[in-house]
Order: sequence, then C-alpha cells, then structure tokens
Amino acid sequence: VDIPLDRDKPVPLARQIQAHFERLIRERLLAPGVKLPATRDLARTLSVNRATVALAYEELVAAGWAHAHVGQGTFVAERPNQSRDVPAVAAPSRPPIDWTGLFSRSSDIVAADGERARAVVGTGTLPADTISFAGGMPDSGLFPIDGFRRVLNQVVREEGAALLQYYPPGGYLPLRRYLAAYLMRFGIETRPEHILIVNGSQQGFDLIARTLLDSGDNVAIEQPTYPRAIQVFRAFGAQLVTVPWGPAGPRLDVLERLLERHAPKLVYCQPGAHNPTGLAMSAELRPRLLELAARHQVPIVEDGFDGSLYYGPRPAAPLKAGDRDGIVIYIGTFSKVLFPGLRLGWLVASPAVLERLQAAKQLADLHTSALIQAAVHRFCERRLLDRHVARAAAEYGRRRGLLLASLRRRLPDGATWTEPQGGFSLLLTLPAGLDATELLPRALERGVAFTPGAAFFVDGAGQGSLRLSFSSVPASRIDEGVRRLAETIRAAQRRPGRPTAPEPLAVPLV
Ligand SMILES: Cc1ncc(COP(=O)(O)O)c(C=O)c1O
Repeated sequence: VDIPLDRDKPVPLARQIQAHFERLIRERLLAPGVKLPATRDLARTLSVNRATVALAYEELVAAGWAHAHVGQGTFVAERPNQSRDVPAVAAPSRPPIDWTGLFSRSSDIVAADGERARAVVGTGTLPADTISFAGGMPDSGLFPIDGFRRVLNQVVREEGAALLQYYPPGGYLPLRRYLAAYLMRFGIETRPEHILIVNGSQQGFDLIARTLLDSGDNVAIEQPTYPRAIQVFRAFGAQLVTVPWGPAGPRLDVLERLLERHAPKLVYCQPGAHNPTGLAMSAELRPRLLELAARHQVPIVEDGFDGSLYYGPRPAAPLKAGDRDGIVIYIGTFSKVLFPGLRLGWLVASPAVLERLQAAKQLADLHTSALIQAAVHRFCERRLLDRHVARAAAEYGRRRGLLLASLRRRLPDGATWTEPQGGFSLLLTLPAGLDATELLPRALERGVAFTPGAAFFVDGAGQGSLRLSFSSVPASRIDEGVRRLAETIRAAQRRPGRPTAPEPLAVPLV
C-alpha cells in the first residue's frame, strides 16, 4: 500500500493514514474481510513510526471501518460503519441497493416467465419491410379515428366536469346499460349492475386471480392458450393443469379427470374465437362443460373477447348465456372490435363475486377512465361500432380467405393448419422435425415474422407449431408473406439443425 503522506500538512500522519484507508474501504477498493498490512511492514514502507500506524488502525476500528483480531491483525469490517466521521457528501459512494433480494415471489415468477417468452419471441425490433403475421391485433389502418374524435369532443363538451372527476368504480352507467343490451344479442341476459367495467380483459384476469386464487392453487387451462392469461395466473402462484384442445374444443374427458384429481380453483377457456387457433368450441360441448363445472362447483372464466368477429356460420352462444348456476365469469373487451389502446373491457358475473371483483378493482386503480367510457358509449349509441365491426369483419374475412388459399398453394407437404372460425389468427403445424423458435430467425432474414407456438403452451410443448395472424397484414402482402414462409420452411428442410441467430427479433405477444 502506497500512501502519499504530506509531512508539511498540519494534519497528523496517523490521521492521514486513517483517512486513506477509510476512502479505500468506502469505495470498495478494499473489500470486507480483507486484511490490512501488518503495522510493522506499513511503518517501514511509509517510513513512519510503528505506533503511528497502530494509532491509525485503532481509529479505523473505533469508527467501525475495521476490526482487530488479537494476534492475527486488522481486517476490513464486513459492514463498514459509515455513520461516524463521514460527511454527508460521502453518500453517493455507498454501494448501490441490492434489489434482487427484495422482490416478491410474484415478481420473480413474472420475471422468469418474461425471460421464457423473450427466449421464444426475441427482443430486437422488426425491420420496416418485414411482413409480420406476428401481432394478434386489429389493423390500425381500419380504425374509425374521425368518428371517435367527434364523440370524444362531444362528451368532453357536454359532461366534461363529471367525467374528469373521480368516478364510481363500477363504471359509467349508460355504458353498462348499453352493454347489457349488446350482450343480449349473443344470448347473455344480464343487468347493468352485474357488469363491472375494467381496463381491458387483462385487468379482468388480474382481478379474477387476486379475488379467487391463493398461492399453490391449481388452475385448469386449455392448451394452447393466450400467453398473458398463463402469465397472470402463474404470477399469483397458481399451478397450471392443462386441457388439450380436441377437434371440438377442450377435451372434457381430460378436464373431468383434472377436476377429480387436482380440484382446480377455476377453469379458463376461450370458447368463441380461440387465440391462437381461431377455432370455436362446438355447440354440443358447451352445455356439457357447464354441467361438468357446476357438478364440481368450479367457476369458469370465459374469455369471450371478440365474439362478433366471426367468419362463416354464426358461433354458438357464449357459455355465459347458458349459465343457470352463476358459475361463469364472462370477460369482454373493446380491444378487438374497436381500439386496444382504449384499455376498455368488462366483466359479467353474479353479484356475490362481482362485489369482490369491484373491491379489488377499486384498490388497483379506483376506476377506469370515465371519459373513455362515455366516448365509447356515445360511439356505440350512434351505431358507429356496428358499422365499424361490419366493415372490419368483412376485411378480416377477406384476409383470412387469402391466407388459407395461399397456404394451400404454397406450403410443402406435412404442414397443416387450423381454419379459423373467428378471431385474428390460425395455428400452423410445421412438417415433422422442424422447430418454430429455431425457424424464426431464418424467417426474419427472409422478411417474414410469426409467433412461435411454444408461447401458447404451458409445458414447453408446441415447438412444432406457429401462429399466423392475418388481421394486420394488408391483403396485397399476404401471398408474398406466405411465399417467404414457405421458402424458409423448405430451406430448413434441406439444411436442418443450422444454428440459430443468437438474438431473434421481437414479435409482439398478444
Ligand atoms: C384471448 C385474449 N384475451 C385477452 C386479450 C387481452 O385483451 P385486452 O386488450 O382486452 O386486455 C387478448 C389480446 O390479444 C387475447 O387474445
């Protein structure tokens, strides 16, 4: 240790030695537990009296920077006491707080799931010329922006003072009345008081989980399924038990076994327009699922998020429409039929549970924006939503048809896919031996993106599948996108097992 001592200074040499060590310890240049040089050696090096060094060490010990072991020497303290003799300006050199030990169990689960998702779908950004079948969202090019701007202006002008004040947690009553009437179209009979307005389906999942789940509870979930639902239930410490989709919907024989063996606290499903497959649960299966859940007294969480976007025959009525036992919590959203950026959705449930959900909602965010609720209500009341949905559904139907035709024409033998009855996407199964996560970087090199199927599976399955969303791809680009995909698949079949790029580009996970 070389300590520059200034012998002309009025500061005693022992004090200078002490200050030098304090700085080294504070700045972690000397780590806790490190032995300081022996007094005799340091005295010789610095050409000072041994008692001077001994005095400096005694002061370090007294101030908590070091501790002395008789016969062994002086050591840097494990947790150096910085309170004495340290001016306030020393604070910035304190070691930064270590957050890792402070995170909740739930946050650790969320982070681990996020890591897993990133490994599947990547982290970079997509180049502008990529044809992306990855985003399961509506096409912003179809958004009725002018109409929405007008109703927003109107409600601000007419009701601004009330809408911009704090608002009751249940939601804007005219919107709840509208929704009660709207849901009648699909066969759901409910009242405005049994509807809770939420910030999108995603908040619905969260409120349901915090209202019904304790850590360690089981949740029965269809597979494949919507990844953000998987993540929410897991975040609350739930163990997920999976029910595979058969040709007509989730396999009820498997569900029955799970209900008997694992007593799940709830069953999550998307009977209407299933993400990622676009399939709908058959009309025959629905009453049987309701009966099974009622017999086991297990609530069903029905994610019915875009029941009015269907292609071909009208889908069967939601489970909630046949729910005589009050066991279904229905989740609806404006994200698919209007704008996801509104963050506006709703829950329909029987009063006993709705009251608890509302209490959880109030704690989470007091209420959903009343301004947005009123604007959407005005938009719906003027029949602008119906007009928009009719136009958008026709366009999405056209894109779906183009995608299916193009897949039939271009994909190699061995690839199969679902024929979506609703929603925005289909699930494609690759020819045997190919892995969609490995294929993604190669596809991106050729300018096409998709979501690897593993993202929709709980247990690491689904590697041989991928989701193609047709909603946001312009009709004129669909065939070219499929051509690039087919070329990627063929190239991978010719040269299997080529190492993947280290960091695939991100594809959105909705
Ligand atoms: C099946 C499913 N449920 C829920 C959501 C989330 O919707 P929201 O925007 O209402 O939170 C999505 C979004 O893609 C979805 O696909």
